[in-house]
Amino acid sequence: MQRNQFGMPLMGLGTFGRNGPAGIQSILDALEIGYRHIDTAQTYETEAECGEAVRASGLSRSDIFVTTKISTANFGPGDLVPSLQRSLDALGMDQVDLTLIHWPSPRGKVALPIYLEQIAEAQAVGLTRMIGVSNFPIALLQAARSILGETRITNNQFECHPYLQNSSLVSYCLENQISVTCYLPIARGALAGDPLLEELAAAKGCTVEQLALTYALARGLAVIPASARKERLASNFAATKISLAEHEMAIMAAADRGTRYIDFDWAPNWD
Ligand SMILES: NC(=O)c1ccc[n+]([C@@H]2O[C@H](COP(=O)([O-])OP(=O)(O)OC[C@H]3O[C@@H](n4cnc5c(N)ncnc54)[C@H](OP(=O)(O)O)[C@@H]3O)[C@@H](O)[C@H]2O)c1
Repeated sequence: MQRNQFGMPLMGLGTFGRNGPAGIQSILDALEIGYRHIDTAQTYETEAECGEAVRASGLSRSDIFVTTKISTANFGPGDLVPSLQRSLDALGMDQVDLTLIHWPSPRGKVALPIYLEQIAEAQAVGLTRMIGVSNFPIALLQAARSILGETRITNNQFECHPYLQNSSLVSYCLENQISVTCYLPIARGALAGDPLLEELAAAKGCTVEQLALTYALARGLAVIPASARKERLASNFAATKISLAEHEMAIMAAADRGTRYIDFDWAPNWD
């Protein structure tokens, strides 16, 4: 299994929408297929489902990399550490591998040092092995590194897929030893029917979704595709077995359109 420098398996599982008993079964299916990296968040309300599936799998906790994310509602002074303790209680775990700031505080309502210092405290008291951020553009990453130091932030999770390759942000992260996790790595299914991608997929005997995942893995990025369907979980996972030649990487690179699917009027200024 391909891992980044922090031991995170590059192939991960997105769990948004996997709520309730069907969600637990789906996460369990993914663990049986071979996924060893699970991505949850306080706002998804899937932390309990993730914990339940991990226990039901019979795998040991240390075999699975678990990420959760702190909701922007828990940034106020004194709020973040207890909120992560509640996440651990829901997961039924003593520690997560990685905790991310889910979004920068909308409209800067809470100042950056206030929530960053609290996530560092959560790490210092052992609730999380590593810390990172999500949806942070370069300017905010620079500010965060000046607050916490250059080595503390180990991951940035942001939208990244063939139609939004985010090359300058990816380069900044990788050059500064910040690993990258791509969310919406298959652009929520929007790649189907793309003539160039379909042609390449047909030539390689794979799907356009597998191409998107393989391409991100080849760039050294982690991916967290999600599906409610077991056969898609398996087919997405099988992207780890595909490789791309240099000219195929160039075709994938040329697919970039700068199309962003997740945006809000309170989102940060994107790169
Ligand atoms: N940090 C953040 O702010 C943030 C934001 C958004 C998402 N995320 C994370 O990223 C994960 C993935 O995001 P996402 O689920 O929105 O996007 P995604 O993984 O790119 O796409 C999931 C969608 O594509 C479909 N799909 C899955 N596999 C497919 C395949 N092989 N062929 C065709 N369609 C397929 C799924 O439908 P079916 O279920 O019907 O298969 C679902 O509608 C989330 O679960 C979450 O963990 C993080």
